Amino acid sequence: MKKLFFYLLMAFAISFSGCNKWSEVKLPTDDEQVQDESKDDDNDKPPLSGKARYLVLYASRSGNSERVAQLIQSTLDCDILEVQPAVAYESDYNDMLARAQQELQEIAQGNYPPIGTNVDDFESYDLIFIGYPIWYGHMATPMQAFLHSHAEKLQGKRIALFATSGSSGIATSLAEAQALCMESTFTQTLLLTSSTLTQMENHVAEWLSVIGAEKSNPNSDELKIKLSVGDRAVFATVVDNVTTRDLISRLPITITMTDYANAEKIYTFEPALNTEGVAVGHSTPVRGDIDLYLPWGNLCVLYRDVSGNSGLINLGHIDDDGIELFDVPGNIIVTIEKQ
Ligand SMILES: Cc1cc2nc3c(=O)[nH]c(=O)nc-3n(C[C@H](O)[C@H](O)[C@H](O)COP(=O)(O)O)c2cc1C
Repeated sequence: MKKLFFYLLMAFAISFSGCNKWSEVKLPTDDEQVQDESKDDDNDKPPLSGKARYLVLYASRSGNSERVAQLIQSTLDCDILEVQPAVAYESDYNDMLARAQQELQEIAQGNYPPIGTNVDDFESYDLIFIGYPIWYGHMATPMQAFLHSHAEKLQGKRIALFATSGSSGIATSLAEAQALCMESTFTQTLLLTSSTLTQMENHVAEWLSVIGAEKSNPNSDELKIKLSVGDRAVFATVVDNVTTRDLISRLPITITMTDYANAEKIYTFEPALNTEGVAVGHSTPVRGDIDLYLPWGNLCVLYRDVSGNSGLINLGHIDDDGIELFDVPGNIIVTIEKQ
């Protein structure tokens, strides 16, 4: 189905072949919005951690998309790479437009122009930004060619698209990227047109915040949470993994923790906390630990040492002697907040 849509888009590309100047072409203005919220398909992915690694890839002919790319790079302090055609574009504007049209027609036939940029693998990146100008309503051809040749390496990767244009929308190019990289997931997109490009600082900052991309924090292996019972509060240090990130994304929360075996206070989250890829098996659970018992899916705060268990995942530990707050009989109401 995605492929069929892709070829219909390509047919549209062919239909303007007689026209040379892009602004004379009737183009889809499919979204006035800066951020396109309807196309976000990575909602079920865990939030990005404070140590997430980013790569900004961009193609740009006259510098607009490059400026946005550089702003993202400097905000996140991450890697950046320009995607270039194997043969530079003509300096004559009309010749360049003619070539862009020709390349779009060739792509519609499945022939991608040669590309001068190669990335060996994307293993070390959690999110890849991909930016480009809109050409005749489509993703600029060098970036289409790059995605075509790197689709396999981008399998399973999270991609954040951004584009610049005179006024055209980004939806067509998102569909093209999704058809090329069918095994990747796409976050909300960002489009800056000639009327919004002047406020790109605000738009980029807002977009990065919405998709959860922030400058990596070297100390983020350890995260702090606050647990309050009545008017008393204690702090805990939790490790940075998928489960704690999911937990933290649900905070603040007030829960009733039930007593289990005069040793633990437990609570089962609905829906269950994400444990994908987290190491299971905690051999030395001690008083003060915060764990997750995988077979039952419950969070447990241990106020006694218990024996090691292959189903336990250690999430952290209550700081100092704060565990005393949990060393009481019966159920307790606990408010958990992020610090
Ligand atoms: C070949 C070509 C085709 C273009 N087609 C469109 C278009 O369909 N719609 C639009 O709004 N702008 C179009 N533009 C304008 C660019 O998308 C816009 O100026 C963009 O910001 C340029 O980005 P860059 O400076 O990174 O190359 C086109 C420009 C060129 C060179």
